[in-house]
Amino acid sequence: MIRQPDVGPILQTAFSFWSSKVLLTAVEFGLFTRLAKRKLTAAELGAELELHARGTFDFFDALVAMGFLGREGDGPAAKYHNTEAGALYLDRASPRYVGGILEMLNARLFRFWHDLPTALRTGKPQNETKHGQKGIFEELYAELPKLEQFMGAMTGLSRINFEAFAEKFDFKPFKTLCDVGGATGLLCIEVAKRHAHLRCTSFDLPPVEAIAKKSIAAANLGVRVGTAAGDFFKDPLPKADVITMGMILHDWNLEKKKHLIRSAYQALPPGGALVAIEALIDDRRRENVFGLLMSLNMLIEFGEAFDYSGADFRGWCGEAGFKRFDVIHLAGASSAAVAYK
Ligand SMILES: C[S@@+](CC[C@H](N)C(=O)[O-])C[C@H]1O[C@@H](n2cnc3c(N)ncnc32)[C@H](O)[C@@H]1O
Repeated sequence: MIRQPDVGPILQTAFSFWSSKVLLTAVEFGLFTRLAKRKLTAAELGAELELHARGTFDFFDALVAMGFLGREGDGPAAKYHNTEAGALYLDRASPRYVGGILEMLNARLFRFWHDLPTALRTGKPQNETKHGQKGIFEELYAELPKLEQFMGAMTGLSRINFEAFAEKFDFKPFKTLCDVGGATGLLCIEVAKRHAHLRCTSFDLPPVEAIAKKSIAAANLGVRVGTAAGDFFKDPLPKADVITMGMILHDWNLEKKKHLIRSAYQALPPGGALVAIEALIDDRRRENVFGLLMSLNMLIEFGEAFDYSGADFRGWCGEAGFKRFDVIHLAGASSAAVAYK
C-alpha cells in the first residue's frame, strides 16, 4: 500500500469545536461545581442541571472520554465525579478556578469567531463593538455583570502565568512594582505573596478599581498592595522599579503599543524593568499556535490590535531607549518579555 499522509490532524482540528463546546457548556452549567466532593449518577446529575434525558449520557460520557470527568462503573448506576484537575480548576468555589475564561469563551467569543471570515476580509472587529461607536472596554464596563465576567476571564487566563512570573523573575534588585492594566490586582497579589520586600500598585481604569481593592483585601495584602485609577493613554504611569503589562500591548495597534512602551520608560528609573506578559509568538512565527490564534482573537476583539514576538518587543523597546532584553518562559504558550532601562 502507498504510504499517505495522516488525515487525522485535519479532522481533529476540523471537529475540535465540538469538544470545545461540550467543555464550555459543562462550565456554563456549573457541572464541576455541582460535583464538588460528590459522586452522582447520570440521572441525579442530569436532574440537578435540569437537563433532558436524551443528552445526559452522551454529554457526561463525552466528558469522561475527553478526560474531564471521572466515572465509577458503567451503565445507569455508574457515578460521575470530578478529576483532580476538574476539582482544582473548574469548580467555581476553588481558589484556583480558571473557568472564568471558559465562561467568557462560551458567552462571547464562540459566537464572535463565527465571523472570522468577515474579520479577515474587512480587518474590523466582530464583537459587541461591531455596530456601535464605543470601544470594547467602554462596552464591557458599562454593565457590572459584563465587567465582572471580563475580570473573571482575565483571572482564568492569567493566574498560572502570574504565579510562574512571581516565581521565576528576579525581584531582588527592586523595591516597587506597578502592574499597568492590573484588572483584579492578581499579578500584584501573586508577586507580593512571594516577595515580602516589594510594594505593588495595580493601575487600571476607574470602574475596575473597586474590584481590585476587594480582591487585594480578600488576600490580606492591603498594606503592601495598593491601587491607582487612570487612563494609560491620557495619564503618566505611576513611577516604579518594575512595570508589568499583562496582555496589554497586544490590545492595541503599533502606534499605541509604542506610546505605552515610552510611558513605561518615563516611569522607570535607570536599571528598571518593563515586563510584558503575553502568549509571545516565536520569532519565526512557526510554532506558538496559541499565540498566533490569540493574535487573530485580537482582530476579532479590536481590529487593528495584534500579538507579537520577543524580537518585535525588543525592537520597539530599543527605539524607546531600553538597553537590555530577556525572555522568560512562564507557562504553556506564555512568556514574559523583559526590557531593562
Ligand atoms: C486584556 S486585559 C488584561 C488584564 C490583566 N493585565 C491580565 O493580564 O490578566 C486589559 C486591561 O487593561 C485595562 N485597560 C484598558 N484600557 C485602559 C486604559 N486606557 N487605561 C488603563 N487601563 C486600561 C482593562 O481595564 C483591563 O483590565
